[in-house]
Amino acid sequence: MRLTLHSPMDMHLHLRDGDMLRTVAPLSARSFSAAIVMPNLVPPITTQQMVRSYKERIMEATKGLEFEPLMTLFFKPEYDYDFLAKVREDIAAIKLYPAGITTNSQDGVDNFSLEALAPTLEAMSELGIPLCVHGETNGFVMDREAEFVPIYERLAKRFANLKIIMEHITTKRAVEALLRYENLYATITLHHLYITLDDVIGGLMRPHLFCKPVAKRPEDRMALRKVAFMAHEKVMFGSDSAPHPRSAKEAPGCAAGVFTAPVALPALAQLFEAAGVLENLQKFVSDNAQSIYGITPPAKEVHLVKELWRVPERYGDVVPMFAGEELAWRVDEDTTA
Ligand code: NCD
Ligand code: ZN
Repeated sequence: MRLTLHSPMDMHLHLRDGDMLRTVAPLSARSFSAAIVMPNLVPPITTQQMVRSYKERIMEATKGLEFEPLMTLFFKPEYDYDFLAKVREDIAAIKLYPAGITTNSQDGVDNFSLEALAPTLEAMSELGIPLCVHGETNGFVMDREAEFVPIYERLAKRFANLKIIMEHITTKRAVEALLRYENLYATITLHHLYITLDDVIGGLMRPHLFCKPVAKRPEDRMALRKVAFMAHEKVMFGSDSAPHPRSAKEAPGCAAGVFTAPVALPALAQLFEAAGVLENLQKFVSDNAQSIYGITPPAKEVHLVKELWRVPERYGDVVPMFAGEELAWRVDEDTTA
């Protein structure tokens, strides 16, 4: 059995820089025609010059592959209309991190008062720049996303013309909010569709499944599966593939992030097929995102074949999700173009 996906996109991706970029970017570029690239480098991407030169490094790392990096800026409340108007053509979105909530987010936002954020968010609304949000408070780890939902709701009401993307949602509570406000949208990862917290710490601790936001309860996973499997028009695939070297994952202080770029499409096909909704995968991995962002990615057909595929133990120094395990589908690179 074969499955052709037209211009699949990854709407939340960490590509890093330097050697790591050169290792991981081609893996995404083989499976996807475009991706929203996260700006949480050290230092974060905050200027037009940084956006442009990072994009060039990504293009260099993916040379010969049909792949469009859709760039983002790291949100700062200092961004004004003139700056945003100038940088508009270089970016697809701006990513907001609460300060200190996840990897390389120290320079994020610590004041969520609408007054503090209004000048930048109003300018973004006017310029049609979507706002991507890592929606977690610094409360108890299992409650962080649910506690952030009232902030999403305040933002959605006050900035009614701003497209707000709830990144990597993990809870039933977030799904409910998403469905209540017209200008809220969401990305959903592969790993949050597959696992719950039990898979991370319920038996032996599995550092390669540890990420932010942490995987939650079975009922949360069920709520995510419901909207993903029906390819609800407000949700789209964003892997949040976040590579860290083994030394940072298999360590007393384990870095947060699951590396899924090379397994994303086969594992999604497996999951959607098992749920009897394989025909909805195209919308989930491309069509919905095109409508939400109003973009047309490069035309590219990615072919999947239903053949057992053993996932490599490592890519460079990074351990992927499903390392050493078998998946039911693989990407047929010979015919992907
Ligand atoms: C991401 C990373 O490593 O950059 N980690 C993660 O656990 N998801 C950051 C993020 O998206 O939170
Ligand atoms: Zn991320």
